[in-house]
Amino acid sequence: MRSVLSRQEPAPPEETMGEPRARGRFGEYGGRYAPESLVEACREVEEAFRQAWADPGFRNTLADLLAVHAGRPTPLTPARRLSQALGVRLYLKREDLTHTGSHKINNVLGQALLATRMGRRRLIAETGAGQHGVATATAAALLGLRATVFMGERDMERQALNVFRMRMLGAEVVPVTAGSRTLKDATSEAMRHWVGVTGEAHYCVGSVVGPDPYPWMVREFQRVIGDEARAQFAAEVRTGVPDHVVACVGGGSNAAGTFAGFADTAARLFGVEAEGGAGAGRGRLGVLHGCRSLFLQDDDGQITEAHSIAAGLDYPGVGPEHAHLRDLGRARYVTVGDEEAIGAAVRLARTEGIVPALESAHALAWVIRAAGSGELAAGSTVLMTLSGRGDKDVSTLKELL
Ligand SMILES: Cc1ncc(COP(=O)(O)O)c(C=O)c1O
Repeated sequence: MRSVLSRQEPAPPEETMGEPRARGRFGEYGGRYAPESLVEACREVEEAFRQAWADPGFRNTLADLLAVHAGRPTPLTPARRLSQALGVRLYLKREDLTHTGSHKINNVLGQALLATRMGRRRLIAETGAGQHGVATATAAALLGLRATVFMGERDMERQALNVFRMRMLGAEVVPVTAGSRTLKDATSEAMRHWVGVTGEAHYCVGSVVGPDPYPWMVREFQRVIGDEARAQFAAEVRTGVPDHVVACVGGGSNAAGTFAGFADTAARLFGVEAEGGAGAGRGRLGVLHGCRSLFLQDDDGQITEAHSIAAGLDYPGVGPEHAHLRDLGRARYVTVGDEEAIGAAVRLARTEGIVPALESAHALAWVIRAAGSGELAAGSTVLMTLSGRGDKDVSTLKELL
């Protein structure tokens, strides 16, 4: 398999989050399980991505968009008061401070730029929490593309603010009424729609899920989180590399991007899933949305519904690379429930003046728990990706607090 890195440096081994093996495999996971027309479309996306990623011109334009439009680099913030209370040294990678308020913008700017390079004039996307939809609508407006975003009706109710933002930005939001009316159903609908319009539209997948090359490509576009955090940590903290690296996992894009920056170090990697959506924790091998990975299933192999108070975490599976990292023992996956996440959100607001997205609050809740139980040794360093800000969740929180 030809490597985009081969002209500059050898591809790092798969275990350190390099390029997947042939046909997009991470261990026994990944692949391209899709109807023939989408297999061809994915092949085109892969070829375009390989060429773009090896092209310094593309990389420079993307870096420029990330700096000028998305506000990168995002800061690494020491959580001073909370650290003191927990007995560990906690640093927050502030993806909440990007334009549009979450890490989703990193991937979307990459894919939108790729779409224009492929001559596509339209973006199709699915969204759960709405952050990926808002990022897609934003990038489309910026680059003069049309955007169509599929969203479950239940998520549209929970994330009404983001629905308004997408429409304000000129995107069409298509309500999805099937199934649990959340992210899984929106993704199915978006893929179905893409089948008929592959020649004109690029499907902008929002996480490290879906058929090859999406899990790999999205991780590469999110790698900027881990790379920046590693350089910032090395410059600002005497220990050089954090002892622990923690991120929440829905499909797993912010975690994959964060882990990629530290996979070849001694840092211990932790992915935090919602109790009701724990693909890596409780999922079994299956195929969904064009990809072989771990999914919540019943005894007949039917995908079961996930639940989380955080709309971005109730996907019933996990990206294939996370399944592989779990098997290798390179990353550990743990779970947090709704109540604990809400408690962590309030605690961060009151100790550090930061209202996190409920997704990110899951990661924080686990840090709080693990510091309390001694699982994170006293005085050790913890880097946690704060994947998004909590504005979108205030109406949910208002009803509960
Ligand atoms: C703020 C935020 N964090 C995390 C996630 C989970 O996605 P992923 O696991 O791909 O990072 C989402 C998804 O919508 C989100 O909006």
